[in-house]
Amino acid sequence: MSKLRVGVLISGRGSNLAALIDAARAPDYPAEIVLVISNRPQAAGLDRARAAGIPVRALDHKLAESREAFDRTMDEALRAAGVEFVCMAGYLRVLSDGFVDAWHNRMINIHPALLPAYPGLDTHRRVLADGGRITGCTVHYVRKAVDTGPIIAQAAVPVVAGDDEASLAARVLAAEHVLYPFALRLVASGQVTVAGDEIRYAGMADRAGPALFSPMP
Ligand code: GRF
Repeated sequence: MSKLRVGVLISGRGSNLAALIDAARAPDYPAEIVLVISNRPQAAGLDRARAAGIPVRALDHKLAESREAFDRTMDEALRAAGVEFVCMAGYLRVLSDGFVDAWHNRMINIHPALLPAYPGLDTHRRVLADGGRITGCTVHYVRKAVDTGPIIAQAAVPVVAGDDEASLAARVLAAEHVLYPFALRLVASGQVTVAGDEIRYAGMADRAGPALFSPMP
């Protein structure tokens, strides 16, 4: 089986990266992680990649002369590694339009809310402030506007009495770690494709297909 060659972009902790690395260990997983790039050289996620024997590029965006120049460096590193598909996993920097265009329909992101609700930062704090009862996480194709793009899969997560930002974030993060490998499998196996801005599930008439689920009891 030829596996999709995936590059992962991170900025920090890298727990979603770790979930992808773990999933990709399975012989039948249709993707392999061949490069991890961080825009912060000290990102803890880089150590997770190194521990798994995956090549890393520890870049520092502060040393680049512009966003475009930095993104060109990333693009060159991805191409040099033979990367075919990019996963953003806690990459906390806005991408240049040129980079988004170069990886159009070949780049996905995970967001800790049920898009299109709560794009941007501090999602859990905002959900709690609004009294939301259900939140979750979303894996979507990347488009130029931050946290937009065709939605591949979502997981619903309840808000429970007594939740604070930390407890809710932890519950959503546990769902992210299930959802992201699940969504990448759908894409890498060809079960999900995107035409224009419309997601198609192979062999399934139902838009929800297998891609809406709640990992919580
Ligand atoms: C996750 O909550 C992800 O959804 C968001 O940033 C966080 C990254 O966490 N985009 P980690 O670095 O994967 O642990």
